[in-house]
Amino acid sequence: MERKQKERKGHLVLVPCPLPSHMSPMLHLAKLLHSQGFSITIIHTQLNSPNESHYPEFSFESIGGSMLESYSAFDGDVMLFLSKLNMKCETPFHECLVKMQLRCQYTPISCIIYDAVMYFSAAVADDLKLFRIVLRTSSAANYIGLSILDESDFVSEPRMEEPVAGFPFLRIKDMPLFSTQKHTREVLTCIYNGTRTASAIIWNSLWCLEHALFEKIKNETLVPVFPLGPLQKHCSSFSTNVLSEEQGCIAWLDKQAPSSVVYVSFGSVVTMTEDELLEMAWGLANSGQPFLWVVRACVVNGSDGVEMLPREFHEATRSRCRIASWLPQQKILAHTSIGCFLTHNGWNSTIESIAEGVPMLCWPRVGDQRVNARFVSHVWRVGLQLEDRLLREDVESAIQTLFIDEEGIEIHKRAKELKKKVDISLRQGGASSEFLSRLVKYISLQETMIRLSNA
Ligand code: UDX
Repeated sequence: MERKQKERKGHLVLVPCPLPSHMSPMLHLAKLLHSQGFSITIIHTQLNSPNESHYPEFSFESIGGSMLESYSAFDGDVMLFLSKLNMKCETPFHECLVKMQLRCQYTPISCIIYDAVMYFSAAVADDLKLFRIVLRTSSAANYIGLSILDESDFVSEPRMEEPVAGFPFLRIKDMPLFSTQKHTREVLTCIYNGTRTASAIIWNSLWCLEHALFEKIKNETLVPVFPLGPLQKHCSSFSTNVLSEEQGCIAWLDKQAPSSVVYVSFGSVVTMTEDELLEMAWGLANSGQPFLWVVRACVVNGSDGVEMLPREFHEATRSRCRIASWLPQQKILAHTSIGCFLTHNGWNSTIESIAEGVPMLCWPRVGDQRVNARFVSHVWRVGLQLEDRLLREDVESAIQTLFIDEEGIEIHKRAKELKKKVDISLRQGGASSEFLSRLVKYISLQETMIRLSNA
């Protein structure tokens, strides 16, 4: 461990959230900051803990031995899960940092970087007088949505189609609406406050996608923002997946025509009804395009979705469909045979698709997914959005629009142009790369100030 910590620019303690879609951007950030000369310690729970042997350059500390117990309370209510997780982690995290500060193999902590949903970190860092930066793993649009939401905006169904004040392209129903249950409101407030009060905010998004919103956030929070995204594109590819992936699909994709395959996936938590699964299945079948579909084992209310697909569907699609329970998504989106991504617009999926220039067919379900989908279809115009009520005819005709119509050709062109902007952003002198240099300088300055004040 001493070797890992010696002669580095500073020591960063990173606190990822154990949910798979949150773990991945934090591990990519860890790699990135390590490549910039910092030593890294990852604090993790025992739930979905990262495989330490994949990251020999980092140190790891485990907190919250009974996390599995709190995961069993997850049962689809992410807010309840986060509420319990934050309550359980605060004391062990505090103890862990105190021990780390006493142990000689660790150099002094320069900064705590925590996922915004791990807001207990803010209270602990403040108590120990440690400098803290927050990582937002979702879009700036989602943050703005949360900040302007008022419960009265969405309690009445008839107002759902009305535009949001100041954002005419957004409707109230596009906002990150959550239930009004007490624990949900409390968690959202804590996430919001844990972000607002940090010394700086790192985003897994890009200046070229959301610059107006970043300006607004900077003016409101009065702290520097560092949009470094897409985090997964800075370092050479490595898997952060905590779930096992089926690899054979790449050989299947190799046999398909360029830009012909519809890739279908709804991330790691979204569920659907049996009706929705069947409408989706027949829409894909009737579209005539080849498709690669992630059907997670518990996607239909805890039951095996694949078993619900009728024999006739398998017979009709056998020659042009492949179904798997979990796939290496980033590799798939980068494959030349992918022509469109039918997605729920979780932020990771959205930014991964943008980074590879793949047009989207959006079917958002909850939280930030709706506002992301609206930006995809109405601001960046690199996709189309399906109605909430899923009908097989709509799926079929939207896929045909994307592959055949003039409108679809224009969407493909814009998606390729946006990918070019992302590539430029990542190059030396590009926005994401510049923000990274600024972040390194910013943390190094804080490190010097800490050293001077301790001298
Ligand atoms: C959750 C929320 O639902 C989402 O709205 C929020 O933005 C982040 O937290 P999730 O639903 O899992 O995330 O979606 P998303 O953010 O898209 O993340 C899914 C991740 O899983 C992506 O990084 C994707 O590459 C990966 N994935 C998905 C795989 O690696 N293989 C798969 O088969 C499916």
